[in-house]
Amino acid sequence: MTATRGNVLVTGGAGYIGSHACKALAAAGFTPIAFDNLSTGWPQAVQFGPLEIGDLMDRARLDTVFATHQPIAVMHFAALSLVGESMEKPGKYWRENVTGALNLIEAALASGCKEFIFSSTCATFGDHDGVTLTEDTAQYPINAYGGSKKAIEEILKDFAASDGLNHVIFRYFNVAGADPEGQIGELHEPETHLIPIVIDAARGKRDSVAIYGDDYATPDGTCIRDYVHVMDLVDAHLAGLEWRLAGWENRAFNLGTGHGYSVREVIDTVKRVTNVPFTVNNAARRAGDAAFLVSGSERALNELGWSPKRSALETIVRDAHRWHLSGIAETWAAQGRAPAKR
Ligand code: UFG
Repeated sequence: MTATRGNVLVTGGAGYIGSHACKALAAAGFTPIAFDNLSTGWPQAVQFGPLEIGDLMDRARLDTVFATHQPIAVMHFAALSLVGESMEKPGKYWRENVTGALNLIEAALASGCKEFIFSSTCATFGDHDGVTLTEDTAQYPINAYGGSKKAIEEILKDFAASDGLNHVIFRYFNVAGADPEGQIGELHEPETHLIPIVIDAARGKRDSVAIYGDDYATPDGTCIRDYVHVMDLVDAHLAGLEWRLAGWENRAFNLGTGHGYSVREVIDTVKRVTNVPFTVNNAARRAGDAAFLVSGSERALNELGWSPKRSALETIVRDAHRWHLSGIAETWAAQGRAPAKR
């Protein structure tokens, strides 16, 4: 592995978004060092640099990895990230997300690494009654997941003041899609996200799709989300890294398209793309869900020069569908997570 522009530590590098970031980093001349506990990630997804198996709760392991690889920057993707689960197990979310981030920040600083790119979320905003969310919107999270991410945003600001920790915060909207070259894609066990669930139904791998709530104050009564392609998302991370390496200020950016789609519109798009009918049922609301989460992404456009290229909903669904049809996800699932089985 020849490091041209330096090593970047990618926590969650075996996961869905982290593995796409590793691919983009390698293409841009960096060496991505994937750090992952393989609780939800897949060693098979680590194809673009070394894998260091470890847990963010283990500070000594982090110190060893920083000493070994001397990264010039950290991209912190690893986290518990399910809104519904965070409402059932808030302690787990607060403990693991916040303590993990603290360990990582302190290990980075101890090694002399001061560049930190953080995966935050639109779930830090809470529900704002259909208002498009900009970086200036007040953050009032309504679930423990969003709360834990907002806390980490605050922690970054404190360490910037105390230790000169430079950072870029990205607040993702709903990430979906897959590498159009088909090397990597989304694989969660169990899957909870809307687009892969609906694609599974179209592939006959599920009997039906449940809509969690059809009585929201939205035009068709179902929740509205802003879907952004994972390739566009990782492009923004590369732009954020360049921003920091150029010495620009600490900054937070929302990453979405500015267009919202309801759960029903997503289902209709999958039906149109796959041309397969499947059963759709109405179910109860899921605790912690906001009715409307749509990004105003002017800051990322104006300051980072970032604009989504593949985030038309139909393109997202086509790329995700192609990945699922490839059968690679099934192969990984059958192989399991043990690194020796790669
Ligand atoms: N939904 C259904 N049926 C399903 C699954 C989801 O109706 O079977 C609905 C949800 O209730 C929600 C929408 O589809 O209204 C999207 O749900 P996802 O679970 O796909 O995504 P979330 O919006 O809950 O959360 C995701 C990520 C978070 C991230 C968030 C930002 O899991 O990490 O997007 O909104 F913060």
